[in-house]
Formats: sequence, structure tokens, C-alpha cells
Amino acid sequence: MNACSRLLNAHRSIRQFRPEPIDAALIEQVCGDAISGASSSGNLNSVSIVLTRDQQRKRHLYGLHAQQEMVLQAPLVMTFCADFYRTRRWLRARGARDNFNNLIGYHIAAFDAIIVAQNACLGFEAAGLGICYMGTTLHAMEPIADFLQLPPTCLPVTSIVVGHPAEDPPKRDRLPLSALLHDETYRRPSNERIDQTFAKREVDGWNRYLSAPRLKALIDQHGIQSLAEFYTSKVKYDPELFQRDSRQLIQLLQKRQFVEGGQLIDEG
Ligand SMILES: Cc1cc2nc3c(=O)[nH]c(=O)nc-3n(C[C@H](O)[C@H](O)[C@H](O)COP(=O)(O)O)c2cc1C
Repeated sequence: MNACSRLLNAHRSIRQFRPEPIDAALIEQVCGDAISGASSSGNLNSVSIVLTRDQQRKRHLYGLHAQQEMVLQAPLVMTFCADFYRTRRWLRARGARDNFNNLIGYHIAAFDAIIVAQNACLGFEAAGLGICYMGTTLHAMEPIADFLQLPPTCLPVTSIVVGHPAEDPPKRDRLPLSALLHDETYRRPSNERIDQTFAKREVDGWNRYLSAPRLKALIDQHGIQSLAEFYTSKVKYDPELFQRDSRQLIQLLQKRQFVEGGQLIDEG
């Protein structure tokens, strides 16, 4: 195994942290490496990273991230933003045509931001720190954008907590590679193959959820009978919340000038 392979295979999300702060020079180095090592559409580097270390400000983010305890514990929260604001300001300053205020622009910037986020995760993990992503970002994009004072054409797409691990959780396995990897063309799985693909997960994942008292109580309360049911229940990925937030995302992309064209209104 080479160093990269070892690092990737050692990954576990960390949700409990010791209180020590992270060396500011390390944060800067990891961010620099993450950006330097990230491929970027047109090399426009359409990402901004907002660091939150202040405890009061973290407390506010804690509320926006569905009160996930790790936000309070971790010394650092990083919000990765899809950002075409800088580029659009530059285009305007040079008298070039405006662009990127469209759905493709949002995708380009979102991909740039996610690539940098994952590089930063690897950088911190290589330095012995722990990280965990927060999908709650997507359910609080507008309040997070307001709180971080993001300009138009700049939206948070993911966040991570970072810190010194205070837990050593077991490695979680993935669905079998053979189910994810296709040779030349997509191979649609048979029903039996679907059963095989999820068989281990249906035991391990289900038992893991049942072993957490808080989740077990919710599973019982909602009459959830299986892992599949759990995933689309109110407890995990609530379909109503997904519908609501999807509608809000479309409106937010318009409001923040990411879609529907138009000139950049805010010029700093
Ligand atoms: C985009 C994204 C969002 C996530 N959101 C959360 C989250 O809000 N809370 C959490 O505890 N874990 C979150 N995770 C972590 C996943 O639960 C975790 O990666 C997965 O269970 C696999 O475990 P592992 O990372 O330890 O291998 C998220 C992961 C990703 C990639």
C-alpha cells in the first residue's frame, strides 16, 4: 500500500473532539495544499472557504446544523462555498461579458468547492486530525449564507468540522466495489444482485442504528421495520424536507443571482 492508499483506507468520520485548537499555520497549509492539489474548471478556482473558530459563532452554526454536537466540540468548522462572485467582479472590471450566473455556473463552482473540501479532509487526516462532513449545510444554505455574509453568486455547498479526535470509531465498509464499478457500459443489477449488494449493510447498518438508544427510540416511535425504511423516514432523509428544501434551493439560486441571468447587482 502506498501512503495515499493507507490514508484513504484509514478514513473514518470523527464526531467527538478534544478541545485543543488547531494550529493556525496548519489550517493555512492544509487549505493551500487543498487548493493547489484540486483540479479546477478553467482554473477559475470558484471556491471560497469560510473558517469559523469563534465559540459564539460556532454556537450559531450549531443551530443551523440541526444541533449536531460536533459543531460545538470541534475547534474548527469550515464552510466550502461555490463562488463565482470574484470572477464575475473581475469580468465586469475588465469589461468582459458576464457569465456563470446560470445553473452550469453553479455546478462548476459546486464541483470546485467539493473537490477542495475533500482535499482539505485528506490534508487534515494526514496530519492526524479528524473530520466530519455536514450534509445539514444543504438544508440551511440561506441562513448560513446570511450568517457568513456571502455575496451574490456564492453559496455554501458543504461544511466540515475539524479537530483532534476524542474517539476511535471502527471503519465503516462501503457497498461492494463490484456493484459500483462498471466496465465500458452500465450493468443494471438483477433483483438478486440488489439483494446481495445491500445484504451486509442491512445487517451491519441496521444493527448500528439499533444500538444507539436515541435512534432506537425514534425507530420504534416511527414503526420503522428495516434499514431501507429508515433511510426515507422522517428520522433520516425526510422526503418532505427534501421536497421543501429542493424548492427552496431553486428559489435561492435565483435570489442569489446564480440562475436566471441578469447583471451582478452587488459590487462590494
Ligand atoms: C456530503 C456528506 C454529508 C454528511 N453529513 C453528515 C452529517 O450531517 N452528520 C454526520 O454525523 N455525518 C455526516 N456525514 C458523514 C457520513 O455519515 C459518513 O461519511 C458515512 O456514514 C461513512 O462513514 P465514514 O466517513 O466514517 O467512513 C456526511 C458525509 C457526506 C459525504
